Amino acid sequence: MTAAADPAPMPASPPADSDLVRAARGLPVRRTPVWFMRQAGRSLPEYRALRAGTRMLEACQDPDLVTEITLQPVRRHGVDAAILFSDIVLPLVVAGVDIEIEPGVGPVVAQPVRTVADVDALPPLEPDRLAFLATAVRRLVAELGATPLIGFAGAPFTLATYLIEGGPSKEHARTKAFMYAEPEAWGRLLDRLAISAATFLRTQVDAGASAVQLFDSWAGVLSAADYAERVLPHSRAVFDALGSGRAGEDGVPRIHFGVGTGELLPLVGDAGADVVGVDWRVPLDEAARRVGPQRSLQGNLDPAVLLADRATVDREVRRVVEQGRAARGHVFNLGHGVLPETDPGVLTHVVELVHELTS
Ligand code: CP3
Repeated sequence: MTAAADPAPMPASPPADSDLVRAARGLPVRRTPVWFMRQAGRSLPEYRALRAGTRMLEACQDPDLVTEITLQPVRRHGVDAAILFSDIVLPLVVAGVDIEIEPGVGPVVAQPVRTVADVDALPPLEPDRLAFLATAVRRLVAELGATPLIGFAGAPFTLATYLIEGGPSKEHARTKAFMYAEPEAWGRLLDRLAISAATFLRTQVDAGASAVQLFDSWAGVLSAADYAERVLPHSRAVFDALGSGRAGEDGVPRIHFGVGTGELLPLVGDAGADVVGVDWRVPLDEAARRVGPQRSLQGNLDPAVLLADRATVDREVRRVVEQGRAARGHVFNLGHGVLPETDPGVLTHVVELVHELTS
């Protein structure tokens, strides 16, 4: 047989056997896996150089840029997972909703959703518009070898906050007002967002992503009762629609994350996650009690700690590692995304320290 006809060599240990996937499933690991939310982005000079002159949402649809930007933090920090360079609003943008990401602000929606008619006018996401995404994921999986790629999507609630508020918000008052005043339209809106999130995730999983994370970043603004009744069923629908994953395999592990969700942690797990992401407010041993022994945890170093002196960083990393031992499995991460002003050298150091403490 000629070399050209040989199948691509399998990596010595495939991503499905990586520490990230094993920790997510609660299996023994070689050492605690580490990655960082927003590991790709403005903390890296090589990212700033590559992004110069390209709008965020254009960059997200260019498979060459997506591949290179996703790989940058893996090369630099030696993290245990890549996360696809994209954005939670991308499925809406691809479907035709007029959204821009304003630097330093976040997503801005040209015509916010304020009425029942606005909900019904939202365009659906056609899966065949996601060819660029499948291309980028396939290329990444080939480049990454044994390192798993995490695919992601925004959860229905967090996307609804951007659509209804028209941009970032602290109180999310318009969102809650709509949720209370128009419960049926609210349900329809979240149903539609669940379908588009599931389509976005399924494309990534089918193209080879080894895990997925559903970001419900702003769910922590809700009471447990409202979350359980008006939000959780829609997030569960996203996970349910993912089914059991690629043919012949167990489904890929699912990570479910939000900020300020301490009071919601058991519910965040109940939505169908293998791993519950925890912000810095609840120590991981307490989070493990709240979530129970059926799920792993991800987190939860305060991203602001990385701006402090080295002794403080080391002490806090050790604390998170120790408290994480109470969980069924622990994926080390920050409690939210890397702050743009973070020294990337500190991120590399944290990866090395977590590996050293746990191997
Ligand atoms: O984590 C990663 O490295 C993967 C890439 C990623 C981005 N956005 C890239 C990005 C992920 C996972 C997201 C998800 C995302 N986007 C969330 C959920 C995670 C979270 O932070 O809670 C949210 C809420 C958004 C919406 C959004 N997009 C915000 C709030 C911002 C920041 C705006 C700013 O300039 O401060 C964005 C833009 C964005 N998304 C950037 C990146 C790298 C910065 C764009 C730039 O380089 O100017």
